[in-house]
Amino acid sequence: MDLKLQNKVAFITGGARGIGKAIGKEMAKEGAIVVLNDLNAVALKEAVNELVDMGYAATGICGDVADPDCVGRMFEEMKETFGRVDILINNVGINHDVLLMDLTYEQWRKEMAVNLDAMFLTSKAAVPLMEPERHPVILNGGSFACFMPALGYGSYAAAKAAVESFTKSLCGELASKGIRVAGYAPGVTNTEINRELFAHEGERMCRQIPLNRVAEPEEIARVVVFLASEAASYVAGCMVRIDGGKLCVQNADRFR
Ligand SMILES: NC(=O)c1ccc[n+]([C@@H]2O[C@H](COP(=O)([O-])OP(=O)(O)OC[C@H]3O[C@@H](n4cnc5c(N)ncnc54)[C@H](O)[C@@H]3O)[C@@H](O)[C@H]2O)c1
Repeated sequence: MDLKLQNKVAFITGGARGIGKAIGKEMAKEGAIVVLNDLNAVALKEAVNELVDMGYAATGICGDVADPDCVGRMFEEMKETFGRVDILINNVGINHDVLLMDLTYEQWRKEMAVNLDAMFLTSKAAVPLMEPERHPVILNGGSFACFMPALGYGSYAAAKAAVESFTKSLCGELASKGIRVAGYAPGVTNTEINRELFAHEGERMCRQIPLNRVAEPEEIARVVVFLASEAASYVAGCMVRIDGGKLCVQNADRFR
């Protein structure tokens, strides 16, 4: 299937590692011009170099997507360099594994800022650079926590649930500008954010997933790339679950 992503300019937040990096790679394979954003300058340089060494069109813009001024500067740079944005992937996310009485106000605010505010800021900055005849797309990264929180991740789940609502609103509002908006909800995925958790609870987590394993970042990325393409031209306003069946039954391991 030709996904028709050649020369599409794709901006991917939090793209230096994990799911964002994998999305960048899969998008680049399809011929898109990939712009990876990240706070971590060293990791960002490595991720961009990896893509460039493979012969793909890629560049990086370092900066904090939760900082309004910084987002303004980054999209000014996008305008000067490319003159447009065709695909915005709001991938960035952070979590704190902390129960209510230990969660500080600063941690709560930070989760809201990075998981939710950032997609408000980037969407607002990207829309004026989107050209309806190029079928622009905004994809918002949620989580299976959008639908069911996990103990220890209350602030994360609250922010991710809001991502679903914001995605619906943006879809309705931006359709008249020719911009398609949708979301995707990864399940447990094999990335740095989970290293410590997997070390202690990996086995238990897999037991609760019908496919009995966590996802590799590429398995999330391939679906996201499809959603960004014209092949998914009628997918809008929903969160597409990519979670190995995580929320479909209560007792996935009953007959194993
Ligand atoms: N890994 C999972 O199990 C899982 C499950 C469901 C949803 N998700 C979501 O998928 C997304 C990616 O997850 P991941 O596991 O690849 O995460 P990750 O921690 O491996 O990578 C996140 C990247 O975002 C960057 N970043 C953090 N704050 C930033 C900021 N303010 N501005 C710019 N960059 C910033 C980090 O430097 C890092 O490179 C997140 O939104 C996460 O909530 C992940």
